[in-house]
Amino acid sequence: MNAQVDRPIGMFDSGFGGLTVARSVIDLLPSEDLVYIGDTARYPYGPKPASEVRSYAIELATSLVRDFNAKLIIVACNTAASVALGELQSLLSVPVIGVVEPGAQALVEATTNNRVAVIGTVGTIASGAYESAVAGASRSVSREVSLTATACPGFVEFVERDETSGQAVTELAGKLLAPIRKAGVDALLLGCTHYPYLSAVISEVMGSGVKLINSADATASEVRDVLIKNNISRSVDDEVKSSHEFYSSGDVQHFAELGRRFLGPELSLAKQWPK
Ligand code: DGL
Repeated sequence: MNAQVDRPIGMFDSGFGGLTVARSVIDLLPSEDLVYIGDTARYPYGPKPASEVRSYAIELATSLVRDFNAKLIIVACNTAASVALGELQSLLSVPVIGVVEPGAQALVEATTNNRVAVIGTVGTIASGAYESAVAGASRSVSREVSLTATACPGFVEFVERDETSGQAVTELAGKLLAPIRKAGVDALLLGCTHYPYLSAVISEVMGSGVKLINSADATASEVRDVLIKNNISRSVDDEVKSSHEFYSSGDVQHFAELGRRFLGPELSLAKQWPK
């Protein structure tokens, strides 16, 4: 038994969105323990000032290390990662991984015509984090890629009230995605962890020629690499039954019910955060 290795991975989002990343992490790293906090009492983060989102991110990440003994933190929220990743990395004693860089890398690798787009919350797009991340990812593969970045206010609210299809959300998508359709891109990154739940609607609006990329699998791969590099990876062992714990700062009953439908059977119970 190795105390360091057996500590959980901690992750957080403003609500249900980070569960898309949790799904990929559980699938790729089934022997790792996981603690997830959805800050549903204070969602949405997208329209809030960067300083406010940064202070929530620090509070959540600090709690995951202090109260849950997390060995690694995943900022499973683009809005929080865009404005707080650097600060969290210098503040905390454990590795901190965001969703922006892994997503940008996957986006650049997916395009063949070198025209790509990202959609995200108002806060994420205003931060300019994707311009830097896509430029960095393009350099790493020696390509010149042009990026169209568009905010999609309203998408997160549709997901949080479990309205992931229908006329209202499809009409909104048609309006918000119009500039991206004009840009002639062949790959579109869902730069908000809530948006994969709207994949069907987004894909209908964009058409089959545009690949939808989400950062969940790329982030999970990055987590695996960092665990291995730091010698804190739990080996796959049938004897060890991993635990997955879910917390919400809002209505825990609602979080458990809707979260279970989004994530799957691992989410049977949600507890109150702060503990
Ligand atoms: N899921 C989040 C993100 O990736 C936050 C959405 C919100 O709370 O506005 O940006």
